[in-house]
Amino acid sequence: MAPVKKLIVGNWKMNMNVHDASIFVHKLADEIKVHRDVEVVLAPTFLALQPVSLQIDRRQFKLAAQNLYWRDNGAFTGEVSAAQLRGLVEYAIIGHSERRHIFREHDKDIRNKVQAALRNNIVPILCVGETAHERSVGEMLEVIHDQLIGGLANVTSEEISRIVIAYEPVWAIGTGKNALPEDAEKAARAIRRQITHLYGEAAAKEIRVLYGGSVTADSAATYLATGGVDGLLVGGASLTVPSFAAIAAEAHTGEKR
Ligand code: 13P
Repeated sequence: MAPVKKLIVGNWKMNMNVHDASIFVHKLADEIKVHRDVEVVLAPTFLALQPVSLQIDRRQFKLAAQNLYWRDNGAFTGEVSAAQLRGLVEYAIIGHSERRHIFREHDKDIRNKVQAALRNNIVPILCVGETAHERSVGEMLEVIHDQLIGGLANVTSEEISRIVIAYEPVWAIGTGKNALPEDAEKAARAIRRQITHLYGEAAAKEIRVLYGGSVTADSAATYLATGGVDGLLVGGASLTVPSFAAIAAEAHTGEKR
């Protein structure tokens, strides 16, 4: 089996307009080197996906949608479907905690979105993670378990190799409080145990598991060296060129700043 590529995803959330995104990508392109062992993925606002797609070299950057709607087309005012994103993005972030908690997305929506992405040749990055309260009452692993069951309900053993799981503890997102590497490792192991149980050992070995939550250029290397962690889902630190470029550089084995 080919070694797993490290995956570094910059989730820009609702930041940057089309013009800002274009300037940002232009600057980032000068700073990010292409390496065979690293995949760098940008997740700008929907509006910027098309212009950015014309601007990037796909060997250097791939694109991700931050969300999608699960029906392919129809009377769904304001939504963007996986079918509309097909061919434009390689990845889609699905079930991000901001979608779950602010926009009240439930497991049923999330599993439908996972299916829609797969159906349209888009790799879902399925996000799971516990809130501060769930953590304080010792439910971290139960929450991860339930969110995986919910999100993967209709995923077949052929499809599982096309899925990425991101562990993003809600209390660590945008708060500056990062999870300890041991927490990330514990979560990654629990995710793989469950994938083994559902799809077998080969699938569990192959699946890529990311950590996300207040990752910075200083903490990236530690997480990337953490057992079971194959990459990072980066929010705030993906919004400045030096920090995101430094994080991507950390992912390349042997390259140190
Ligand atoms: P921060 O890196 O800003 O904590 O955001 C993490 C995140 O939500 C990425 O999807």
